Amino acid sequence: MTTEEILKVEGLKKYFEVSGGLLRKKSLVKAVDDISLTVYKGETLGIVGESGCGKSTTGRLLMRLLDATEGSVYFEGENIMEWSRRELKQRRRDFQMIFQDPFASLNPRMTVEDIIEEPLTTIGMPRGERKKRVRQLLKDVGIPESYTGRYPHEFSGGQRQRIGIARALALKPKLIIADEPVAALDVSIQAQIINLLMDLQKEYGFTYLFIAHDLSVVQYISDRVGVMYLGQMVELAESDELYEKPLHPYTQALLSAIPIPDIHIKKEKINLKGEVPSPDNPPQGCRFHTRCPIATEQCKREVPVFREINKGHYVACHEV
Ligand SMILES: Nc1ncnc2c1ncn2[C@@H]1O[C@H](COP(=O)(O)OP(=O)(O)OP(=O)(O)O)[C@@H](O)[C@H]1O
Ligand SMILES: [Mg+2]
Repeated sequence: MTTEEILKVEGLKKYFEVSGGLLRKKSLVKAVDDISLTVYKGETLGIVGESGCGKSTTGRLLMRLLDATEGSVYFEGENIMEWSRRELKQRRRDFQMIFQDPFASLNPRMTVEDIIEEPLTTIGMPRGERKKRVRQLLKDVGIPESYTGRYPHEFSGGQRQRIGIARALALKPKLIIADEPVAALDVSIQAQIINLLMDLQKEYGFTYLFIAHDLSVVQYISDRVGVMYLGQMVELAESDELYEKPLHPYTQALLSAIPIPDIHIKKEKINLKGEVPSPDNPPQGCRFHTRCPIATEQCKREVPVFREINKGHYVACHEV
């Protein structure tokens, strides 16, 4: 990991306007609400949080698959929000996304070879070179070359994800955003795919933003981890530090839910009260205060600032 920035995100917001149905007013879903962070070249930054906290929306904003309501995203120093359609098309190859459901992201009527070759054709790579590159990519992701004529439905879930990864790698992107890439797979296959992603990073040297529900998955793969709650980043630190010294009560609760294999270590499971509030009407003050075991009066009124507590360890909590 270097200290060279690949991505810089400032005050990123995405509000969705949703109609409330008959007689009900329109409401604003604050899916992402003021996120700032930096991603360094060659690192893996894990992003975790419960369902609906805005992880996928963040990923899609960073790829400009969605336009932000506010804020900026700098990719290698250039504000991607200012890119024209043409520029975006040209630069698209530098960042790619891997999705949770490989089946939905692979065209069922195309053979594996066509699926992986398509992005190479788009950039006008000569045929011979394309074929060679497809063979290499299949080898990299562990799919036998003899399978090139097959269609997505003829593969297992794990193999389909390997094909999705090969396609994402085709143009040698600099940044890969993997949105829960193993969530839909069998536990036994998950580790294989995670190891594959890590091996590929060593070989190609790209940067990952790795989105997951599960803190145990990201711990293994990430250099740093960011924890999201209701559209905001509540804690961000180096992976080891976050797992050993979590500061935010929400992170502590998430970590307490992971079983430890060592039966001699007793761990108190912190049960959070209630459900995650709706992002169209988030609580005033600290968004977590309605479920927080240590919330005070101040937490109900004032929004905590996301600030650096120790070197590289950021947290948004009044009580830290
Ligand atoms: N196109 C949209 N229109 C309206 N609301 C949306 C849209 N996309 C997402 N949302 C809402 O924004 C919030 C964040 O959604 P998002 O998909 O980013 O969450 P997530 O953290 O990825 O969840 P999950 O873990 O379930 O994938 C949710 O409340 C969701 O319902
Ligand atoms: Mg998601």
